[in-house]
Amino acid sequence: MERVRTAVLISGRGSNLQALIDAAGDAAYPAEPALVVSNVAGAAGLARAEQAGIATCVLPHRDFPSRAAFDAALHELLESYGIALVCLAGFMRLLGPRIVADWEGRMLNIHPSLLPAFKGLDVHRQVLDAGVRVSGCTVHFVTADLDAGPVIVQGVVPVLPDDDEERLARRVLSVEHRCYPAALGWLATGRVRLQDGCVRYRDVPSRDIWISNPEV
Ligand code: GRF
Repeated sequence: MERVRTAVLISGRGSNLQALIDAAGDAAYPAEPALVVSNVAGAAGLARAEQAGIATCVLPHRDFPSRAAFDAALHELLESYGIALVCLAGFMRLLGPRIVADWEGRMLNIHPSLLPAFKGLDVHRQVLDAGVRVSGCTVHFVTADLDAGPVIVQGVVPVLPDDDEERLARRVLSVEHRCYPAALGWLATGRVRLQDGCVRYRDVPSRDIWISNPEV
């Protein structure tokens, strides 16, 4: 089976990258992480990629005169590695409209809230301050607006009375690591696609489009 060459873009720890690497450890998984790009030198996720024998590249955004120049270099890099799909996994850098359009329907992001609630940064703090009783994560297609693209899968966890940001983050991460491999696998096999701004599913059971984890 020809696996779909996928790039994972990171800025830090890379636990979602690890979940994708682990999923690809199964020969039947349809996507292959073929390149890991970090905009931060020394990001811990780079070591995970190296450990797994995946090509890595550091593209420090400060080396580029503009966002457009950074995006152009990134696009060129992805093309040069024959990349077909891109996963943003804790990539803390906004991408401009041009590269987002170039990869429309082929670029995913994961966000640690139930979008469209709690976009942006300090998500778990926002959730705790709002006093909501459920949170989770969202894997969505990347569009020009931040954290706003069409949703593919969401993971749901409770927010417990004695949670702090760290505990909640840990619980949300546990569903992130299940949601991202699922979404990428569906995209790689064409079971999920973006059509006219909406997500279309084929042969994805409705019970699989959300995942819950009640564990503390
Ligand atoms: C995750 O919570 C992800 O949802 C968010 O950034 C965090 C990255 O964590 N976009 P990791 O680097 O994958 O461990």
